[in-house]
Amino acid sequence: MDDHKTVLGLKLPTDPRWVNIAEMQIEDILVDHAYCEQKAASSCISLIIQYPEKAELVDVLTPVVAEEWAHFERVIEQLKKRGYALGYARKDEYVTALNKVLNKGGSRDQQLVEKLLMNALIEARSCERFKLLWKNIADEELQTFYYELMVSEAGHYVNFIELAKVYMPEEYVKSRWEEILHAEADIIRSLEVRGDRMH
Ligand SMILES: [Fe+2]
Ligand SMILES: [Fe+2]
Repeated sequence: MDDHKTVLGLKLPTDPRWVNIAEMQIEDILVDHAYCEQKAASSCISLIIQYPEKAELVDVLTPVVAEEWAHFERVIEQLKKRGYALGYARKDEYVTALNKVLNKGGSRDQQLVEKLLMNALIEARSCERFKLLWKNIADEELQTFYYELMVSEAGHYVNFIELAKVYMPEEYVKSRWEEILHAEADIIRSLEVRGDRMH
């Protein structure tokens, strides 16, 4: 089995050069990563606020907010240990490009599924990148850190996909997911490989 190609259905594996340059810019990677966790937590909070009538969504995403915020705390701890400060968030070109892929029309449930699949996708790509960091980075503490996060984000990926299937039929979710995966591969291909960013 080709492990990279099959990470949660992604159509394009990360450029292998990325992990080597990322390791050389670990401060930037940690800062960028901290904001990825913050955005993940914020995104779950927004979904809960926008869809409070959806009991299953509220049930599933409430603990995810806490988990993402615990990840944020863990990244901050890694920064501190190394004598680095958090720094400002940068413009997230990956997420901006992904947002353009989402269908803006359709029913309220279709809109929700677009958002859930977007979250699933970011989890899948993050999971793939954590796996690369876990397997390739020399720092043993960071290896364990990225391994644990990889497992956690894979669980979140499942949460989002399963929630999407609660609100739209499975066939619809599958076909939309395939389309979004292809669009994401094009986005990854179009972005410069930078070692100071998670995506
Ligand atoms: Fe996370
Ligand atoms: Fe996550």
